Amino acid sequence: MLAPASVSDYRELARRRLPRVFFDYVDGGAFDEATLNANRNDLQRLALKQKVLRDVSALDTSVTLFGQKLELPLVLAPVGFAGMMARRAEVQAARAAEKAGIPFTLSTVGICPIEEVAQATSKPFWFQLYMMRDRGVVKEIIARAAAANCGALVFTVDLPVLGTRYRDIRNGFGVKLSALGRMRLGWNVVNHPAWVYDVPIKGRPLTFGNLSGIVPNATSLGALLAWTTTALDPSVTWKDLAWVRSLWKGPLIIKGVLDEDDAREAVAAGAEGIVVSNHGGRQLDAALSTIAVLPKIAEAVGDKTTILMDGGIRSGQDVTRALALGAKACMIGRAWVYGVAAKGEAGVTGVLETMKRELRTSMALIGRPRVGDIDASVLQR
Ligand SMILES: Cc1cc2nc3c(=O)[nH]c(=O)nc-3n(C[C@H](O)[C@H](O)[C@H](O)COP(=O)(O)O)c2cc1C
Repeated sequence: MLAPASVSDYRELARRRLPRVFFDYVDGGAFDEATLNANRNDLQRLALKQKVLRDVSALDTSVTLFGQKLELPLVLAPVGFAGMMARRAEVQAARAAEKAGIPFTLSTVGICPIEEVAQATSKPFWFQLYMMRDRGVVKEIIARAAAANCGALVFTVDLPVLGTRYRDIRNGFGVKLSALGRMRLGWNVVNHPAWVYDVPIKGRPLTFGNLSGIVPNATSLGALLAWTTTALDPSVTWKDLAWVRSLWKGPLIIKGVLDEDDAREAVAAGAEGIVVSNHGGRQLDAALSTIAVLPKIAEAVGDKTTILMDGGIRSGQDVTRALALGAKACMIGRAWVYGVAAKGEAGVTGVLETMKRELRTSMALIGRPRVGDIDASVLQR
């Protein structure tokens, strides 16, 4: 490949560059990956209706979210361990997002801490929160996000337990391996020297930056992963949302909603936005795809809150499909991680330019020059 043309090209470059254990961690999903696949398949089944002879000489892809103008209806989704895919990947992605005029969301379990991303950028990025058993830690991290002027708090609620991902088990990610298994893993890693130079040599420190001093014995990736499974609080309920709401003054977005009643509860609890998300098919395998549940949720709360959607968004056509069914904007997870793994900041920029080009072309060919004009009538039923 002389030049990547699409997100799937960036995926292929990422596959070549990353040790298998990391590529599969990003690319894979829970159990049989039925929901992971449904996210893509259900999007691709939606046909767009071509319309001709409309004036599409001036295309406007911008959208206003929570009072902030975005150049594209896209937000980079929070991705834990992203800094294992490229050197200080969260900083590289945040810079690319800023240049593209859209927000980057930093995960609680990112490699780079809030303060490092804040230093590298000049516009507000978003911060994603997981609820930990130690509420003192949660309170402190929310205060750090506020001090860094984060533009929104994305509270992820679909991870009371960590989904089981067969690829991770097979590859020994967070799993105790036999001596032979360790040798094979090591051999695969050393056969990816560009990654070895970029990440373990130049990308240090490789710890959860937001939790340094909090995660005990974080000497290996396995230790970090093990900590995640014990520190996250599975007893969280809607009552805890009121507590988070009282601590965070800016826009609060609940991520991981798949049900209309849950969406109503989120609105009642004072959230300004929701993300219709199944964690990219990484949690409840056999859950419906996000595009399948989006219309009902939009019908229930679309006029009361800002709806974002993620899961399987890989192109401008996919963004058009999600907007048609009620999303105001989309989050993208794997798409940006493939970009950063393939080519660092330039790779994320490449992915965003690709998706922008596709979105603009789709808008022109469906005869809708403004993002706000995209509604269900653009779909061919
Ligand atoms: C490797 C990986 C790590 C993730 N880590 C987090 C995380 O730390 N916090 C979170 O809220 N969501 C996390 N997600 C879910 C994403 O935010 C997003 O919901 C999902 O990737 C969307 O699907 P897509 O990858 O098909 O775009 C992760 C997803 C992936 C692929």
